[in-house]
Amino acid sequence: MTQNLAVIGAQWGDEGKGKIVDLLCESFDVVARYQGGHNAGHTVRFGDKHYSLKLIPSGILHPNKLCLLGNGMVIDPEALLEEIESLRGLGVQINDNLKISETAHCILPYHKAIDLAREEAAGEAKIGTTGRGIGPAYETKVSRYGIRIADLLDPEVLRDKIEFACAEKNPVLQIVYHKPTFDPQKLYKDYTHYGEVLARRITNGTVLINDQIRAGKRIMFEGAQGMMLDIDHGTYPFVTSSNTVVGGVCTGLGVAPKHIDRVMGVVKAYTTRVGGGAFPTELNDSTGEHLRKRGNEYGTVTGRPRRTGWLDLPVLRTSVMLNGLDAIALTKLDVLDDFEEIPVCTGYNVHGERWRTFPAFAVAHHDYKPEYRAMKGWRQSTVGITDFQKLPPAAKDYVRFIEDETGSAITIISTGPRREETILR
Ligand code: GDP
Ligand code: IMO
Ligand code: MG
Repeated sequence: MTQNLAVIGAQWGDEGKGKIVDLLCESFDVVARYQGGHNAGHTVRFGDKHYSLKLIPSGILHPNKLCLLGNGMVIDPEALLEEIESLRGLGVQINDNLKISETAHCILPYHKAIDLAREEAAGEAKIGTTGRGIGPAYETKVSRYGIRIADLLDPEVLRDKIEFACAEKNPVLQIVYHKPTFDPQKLYKDYTHYGEVLARRITNGTVLINDQIRAGKRIMFEGAQGMMLDIDHGTYPFVTSSNTVVGGVCTGLGVAPKHIDRVMGVVKAYTTRVGGGAFPTELNDSTGEHLRKRGNEYGTVTGRPRRTGWLDLPVLRTSVMLNGLDAIALTKLDVLDDFEEIPVCTGYNVHGERWRTFPAFAVAHHDYKPEYRAMKGWRQSTVGITDFQKLPPAAKDYVRFIEDETGSAITIISTGPRREETILR
């Protein structure tokens, strides 16, 4: 039995991490997020219930699981309080089961304003961010002038830091972007209030999680976004601002690598991406539209239509390499039910050289040719199938082909959005 498991997006996000975390949750004691913020949108469905998690680990839906927002996250306290309230409205118990690392960083309204203003100013070259202030908040963290969660509990420090930040951010907003500025007094009042409300949840997250590990509790690390959106390893600059790869677990929670016993990559049976940036297997035609409709590919956070395309094996091999994936959870197989043929990108031709991993440089310079293999479609419904043997032969071949080509076992196959629509192998 695996002690501690990381569940990580292996593509460009929205692979179905929420569903997989929820599915596996029962045998874990703690679920911790280690990076990102409310740019994430993780959907969990069971029966007729539907939850959308943004900052809070999907484990919150299960009673008696300790949920931790790790130090590697950027947290908008207002968004967090809203999420707590909306989950409570759906009957979810949130009391001492939700803790926040005191060294996580806060998102302030000027971060969001700068994120939006910058995107607007960039015009065609915009990244297509979620507009939540994620990038600017991580910038402030790295500049060493960020406001950490613990600062919300220290009025004097908080006031100084907010005043200092506004002295810099307001002119940027006003002069560079011609946008409204923020009143430091108002921010101080709001953020002191957030501190008061959140105080009982704020803790030394690193000590908390390591105490849990030492006590033999089982930990699940819930990734947000996906490997191709990693700030270092993704399709820069069209990425998010955190390390989405497994290494982020160590820095984003203060957990040593030896405590990550197993890494599971979540892989959608085709590919989607929201926002700008390279997407070599993208379909800008009626087939892409069919995938979007059938897969309900509209963003959980922003409602934007997701870009859609075929499966990209070089992306998966890169993900196996960077994350040391022990296994894959393959989601949304049912979305491919209608196709006569399912092309899969098996490699890239870059000036006559064959690449089996993602040729990032060549892709950034539009200097590559994807190579496809057409897999046979199955043309029958796989929706809700729970037994691998009951899958149509061509669907089994599709699964085995991905295993052979990535060298990673597919131990979970998802055949519908609900918890119960799953094959465990
Ligand atoms: P996450 O960000 O990785 O957690 O993924 P999202 O929740 O943003 O997007 C995945 C979407 O696909 C959600 O709407 C899920 O309910 C849905 N979903 C997950 N697994 C399956 C599946 O196997 N089949 C279908 N049809 N939908 C799925
Ligand atoms: P989950 O956890 C898909 C994308 C944005 C944009 C880029 C940068 O649900 O898989 P940001 O607001 O982070 O600065 O935006 O990253 N992005 C995601 N795409 N799923 C996500 O999260 C994403 N979070 C950010 O669309 O292209
Ligand atoms: Mg999502």
